[in-house]
Amino acid sequence: MSLAVYKTRADLQAQVAAWKAQGHRVAFVPTMGALHAGHLSLMRLAKEKADKVVVSIFVNPTQFAPHEDFDTYPRDLDGDVKLLSSVGVDAVYAPSEADLYPEGAKSDQEAGAAAAGLESAFRPHFFDGVVTVVYRLFKAVQPDVAVFGEKDFQQLQVIREMVADKGLGIEIIGGPIARDEFGLALSSRNAYLSEGELEIARMLNQVIFNVAQGPSEERLAEAEEMILQAGFDKVDYVAYRPEWKRVLVAAWLGKTRLIDNCSAQ
Ligand code: PAJ
Repeated sequence: MSLAVYKTRADLQAQVAAWKAQGHRVAFVPTMGALHAGHLSLMRLAKEKADKVVVSIFVNPTQFAPHEDFDTYPRDLDGDVKLLSSVGVDAVYAPSEADLYPEGAKSDQEAGAAAAGLESAFRPHFFDGVVTVVYRLFKAVQPDVAVFGEKDFQQLQVIREMVADKGLGIEIIGGPIARDEFGLALSSRNAYLSEGELEIARMLNQVIFNVAQGPSEERLAEAEEMILQAGFDKVDYVAYRPEWKRVLVAAWLGKTRLIDNCSAQ
């Protein structure tokens, strides 16, 4: 049977309601598409946690600032659906902008304390856009459990906080970061990198894994230097968050912004 792709919330809800009436537990993995092995690892995790897996594919305008890459963000729905069929996903929700934002694409939710600093210092609009769309997606899908990647570690904390604050009763699971053979965290944005940039990008994980052995102000400052020396153009942050026991980084390589993180000792 080919994988069903739902374009409207009403059609998707009918399917999910039918599954729930049969006593099935439903897992949900939200994405912006351009899927890679990192996304697929989340789908496999979702399959272990529930009977049915729903994946959304939607490039969410409210989490992009006007100068960011919303227009050029890679889109390949047919390719994505093929990949999702291969990992046993049960339904794809690929809504139009009007289906998710009938009154126009605007953030109407505010992210909580976990959003402070790091990404927000450089992308102040970002987490309000993420919680706005994820809240709407949760309402549409009504999952029992949802899976998010640790790749976007701060995002995972922001979502956990939203679910707790709103009492949504959805179990949130964090999936480990999928990396290539050189340790580079897989990302849809890696598609923007030239061969030369890819080689430089592969230094990023080495530097943060090194700092994570024993994070200190001095080592973090050294790490920033090393990232620039490796050939990155700008470091937005390389920071240690003791409450998460994580070292997190965001840095620019040409026009591409990469993020990564790892757990610290
Ligand atoms: P997107 O960047 O498409 O990522 C979808 C999910 O895949 C996120 O939970 C992300 O953390 C996870 N992911 C990406 N790369 C990964 C990797 N290498 N290993 C493990 N997981 C990885 O994150 C978003 O979309 C959006 O902000 C979204 C939550 C869908 C809201 O629009």
